[in-house]
Amino acid sequence: MKQGFSSIRAAARLSVAPMMDWTDRHCRYFHRQLSGQSLLYTEMVTAPALVRGGATHLLTFSPEEHPVALQLGGSDPAELAEAARMGAAAGYDEINLNCGCPSDRVQSGTFGAILMTDPGRVAECVAAMRAAVDIEVTVKCRIGVDDQTPEEVLPEFLSRVGAAGCERFIIHARKAWLQGLSPKENRDIPPLDYDLVMRMRGYFQGLHLSVNGGITSLVEVERFLDAGLDGVMVGRAAYHDPSGILAHADRRIFGTGEDRDPVAVVHAMLPYIDAHVAAGGKLGQVTRHMLGLFAGQPGARLWRRILSEGAHKPEANSALVLRALEPVLEGAAVAAEG
Ligand SMILES: Cc1cc2nc3c(=O)[nH]c(=O)nc-3n(C[C@H](O)[C@H](O)[C@H](O)COP(=O)(O)O)c2cc1C
Repeated sequence: MKQGFSSIRAAARLSVAPMMDWTDRHCRYFHRQLSGQSLLYTEMVTAPALVRGGATHLLTFSPEEHPVALQLGGSDPAELAEAARMGAAAGYDEINLNCGCPSDRVQSGTFGAILMTDPGRVAECVAAMRAAVDIEVTVKCRIGVDDQTPEEVLPEFLSRVGAAGCERFIIHARKAWLQGLSPKENRDIPPLDYDLVMRMRGYFQGLHLSVNGGITSLVEVERFLDAGLDGVMVGRAAYHDPSGILAHADRRIFGTGEDRDPVAVVHAMLPYIDAHVAAGGKLGQVTRHMLGLFAGQPGARLWRRILSEGAHKPEANSALVLRALEPVLEGAAVAAEG
């Protein structure tokens, strides 16, 4: 079901980051089986692709994915407003503007992290998007780019964009270096500055602030929430170890619901997989997101190997998933005996 303003904010206590090529609709459906409460983000969809390219298929999602936010890339207020309208009409619960992505392709279109240098434009974009939709408009940003001084630019950015009507920000707590680092290096090399994000918590009491970057366990998530942040966004750790981050999240982070059993999650995925394959889709399009499900458990290596080697074959279907599960079940049985 589509979510209201306050429930989407509650869901933002823990969110899974937008990740290009990773958090597609199949991944989000899978993550939803592990946590009913966490907020899920799409990969970035560019406003020009939607508005000028008519790529509305990029908006398709399953109703089970709610609460789900659409991340947009762009820097033209009118175009972003139109793209936001399309996202709201498609049923998304939130529209998020990407001000953090440093990739070349994104820089060439003057959007993503380069927007940290132009808060006035971001404010205009946010105001236009807010006027176009009645769902929440949020911003994901960095603490600065290149030789900017984060202590100065981040409060200025939050204050100007906040004044334009954005009340919720996700801050990736490191700079992006737009020259000389690859997008991948830009997720690891610039140092994290969580203290700065915590200081923003103190300055901007009226804003809903989530921290992102380098967070790899629920213990860390809890620590940030206890320290006063409103939300924590986890990216790579949620993708590579989805059980570790999501299977206990409903109980530990949201105080509601039960822990999810990864084996039961596999079974819950089977009807979805069958429907996808029956509609002409490939098994691997779904199972590639599930490879980390048993990370660290006996049988995990065979689970990954059986799926990686078999899922791309034309005849592959959910029977392969059950076969890949066998070593995990055997591993669990041996561990229980031992
Ligand atoms: C494969 C990949 C793709 C990403 N694509 C996006 C994207 O489309 N939009 C975005 O705002 N950030 C993107 N990011 C950055 C993540 O959202 C997140 O900010 C970053 O990975 C830091 O969080 P983490 O340390 O928890 O992974 C991407 C990250 C990865 C690993």
